[in-house]
Amino acid sequence: MLSALLMTAALAADPHSYANLDEVRVRHAELDLRVDFEQRRLEGFVELTLDRSASRLLLDTRDLDIDKAYAIVAGEYRKIPAQLSTRDPIFGQKLSLALPVDTQRVRIYYRTRPEASGLQWLEPALTAGKVQPFLFSQSQAIHARSWLPIQDSPAVRFTYGARIRTPKGLLARMSAENDSTDVADGDYRFVMRQPIPSYLLAIAVGDLKFAPLGARSGIYAEPSMLEAAAHEFADTERMIDLTESLYGPYRWGRYDLLVLPPSFPFGGMENPRLTFLTPTVIAGDRSLVSLIAHELAHSWSGNLVTNATWDHFWLNEGFTTYVENRIIEAAFDAERAAMERELSESGLDGELLDLKPADQHLRLDLRGRDPDDGMTEVAYTKGMLLLRFLETRFGRERFDPFLRDWFDKHAFGAVTTDDFLAFTEEQLLARNPGIATREEMLAFIDRPGVPGNTPRTQAARFVAVDQARNRWLRDGEAETLSTEQWTTQEWLRFIEGLPTDIPGARLAALDERFALSQSGNSEIAFAWYQKAIEADYRAAFPAIEAFLTRVGRRKFVLPLFTALAAKDAAFARQVYAKARPGYHPITRASVDAVVPAGR
Ligand code: BES
Ligand code: ZN
Repeated sequence: MLSALLMTAALAADPHSYANLDEVRVRHAELDLRVDFEQRRLEGFVELTLDRSASRLLLDTRDLDIDKAYAIVAGEYRKIPAQLSTRDPIFGQKLSLALPVDTQRVRIYYRTRPEASGLQWLEPALTAGKVQPFLFSQSQAIHARSWLPIQDSPAVRFTYGARIRTPKGLLARMSAENDSTDVADGDYRFVMRQPIPSYLLAIAVGDLKFAPLGARSGIYAEPSMLEAAAHEFADTERMIDLTESLYGPYRWGRYDLLVLPPSFPFGGMENPRLTFLTPTVIAGDRSLVSLIAHELAHSWSGNLVTNATWDHFWLNEGFTTYVENRIIEAAFDAERAAMERELSESGLDGELLDLKPADQHLRLDLRGRDPDDGMTEVAYTKGMLLLRFLETRFGRERFDPFLRDWFDKHAFGAVTTDDFLAFTEEQLLARNPGIATREEMLAFIDRPGVPGNTPRTQAARFVAVDQARNRWLRDGEAETLSTEQWTTQEWLRFIEGLPTDIPGARLAALDERFALSQSGNSEIAFAWYQKAIEADYRAAFPAIEAFLTRVGRRKFVLPLFTALAAKDAAFARQVYAKARPGYHPITRASVDAVVPAGR
């Protein structure tokens, strides 16, 4: 703990925050907000407790209306001027507060705007129940500043409390202690005792019901989804136990899940104590639960040990992708883990073809850029491969305790790539000389591509899938494919390996036999639709249109719109005009860039 604090203190600034982190840090936030669905705004105040006295406090905001600010000095509220600087399209507006001597706390009254990038206000039609509205936040990477004035840097940790008032009948939940027996009376209080960075602040409000999954896990979802969701994620409690046996105690109390409407822009978000999930992972057969493994893994990598700035995002996501795969191996078997890993590795190979060399490094320099630019397979899968490289060289008997130690030593702290290099050199390389070098690690960290000596995965069952695909491509009828035993992962391998120039008629034959255009598995449908668009297989287009208007998960809709815009721009525009009103601001911003006339 101490070493983590010292390292954080040494880091004076975050390129994606206006905060004067070297002068003062927030250590507690107390929120009091009303959720106004008519005006689509949060309104109320935040009171920030500071760790020391300073002459000024600089906060991050974006599209907030600041009403007034107070400094609290010896228990007395003194009104102080609040000055907003001009708006930067990426970073928002700096809020400057001049603090009287001995200010311990500040209170800021404010309102959010309907277009807040970190909030989505859904009308009832966009929910499963279609009767009640829904609100949810998505703060990572730098969207917390659009719903509260804060030091919006992952290097700053604070505890928080909140009072949230909503219309009666709607339930509010936060990334904090949630009492599953709360009645939906519209007045909720939350306490978060473990210090967290701002990107892990989260709120959801809607017609939510709870079902237990295990002793310390459960799920919130709209009533009509609850049973299917509870069935899908029945492995959750077991996964918590398995992760603890690998990497030490789960330090956050409960681990609950919350299923969002289909416009949720991501697969999952690791909000502490309360992972947010897309409903598109509810496949019916539990085949996409690696997403739970992933978000759960963040309870160690990311939430407990946090990247100090977004330049070190791989320390969150690469570690998490590695741990996720270890959980899958322990909860299921090594072959499933290998298949999932190989799919990710193929995804990385594909993405590397399109990325500038500097964006292929694990350590990034995102100064002046949107931190979301770092959200590529490089951070996730190349990051995972660096840890696999070390695991293979040193063996699990040395690597597993090393990783556990990394989490223990930096718990509730912030880390940089240099911290990782120093820790690895000291704890692994120096103690086991002659096995791996700093230069080998730097080849991942500060060089493009994947080093040639990286251990790559070859899943046995994928070899069989590749053979079946090749046989069918050469001479087969779709009837000759024996797919009865195929898992989702094998289907993904089969579809992703179809040649880009495959004639539409051959896709039609597959579709006739396996109804892939109608697949209820979102990953299979997505992979198939990409091939269908490439091959201009028009029979699939109505299903693609339906998918794009139902689902707003960016990972799916951005590549599909990109491909559609290249094939048939008019069709892309027409579908986007219909789909866009239901999309989250984050997804809209991304798709607007590829279908410009969609608005
Ligand atoms: N923390 C990420 C989501 C994220 C990253 C949001 C950066 C905003 C900025 C989350 O843990 C994640 O990685 N989600 C993935 C799923 C995962 C299984 C790869 C996603 O949403 O696709
Ligand atoms: Zn993640």
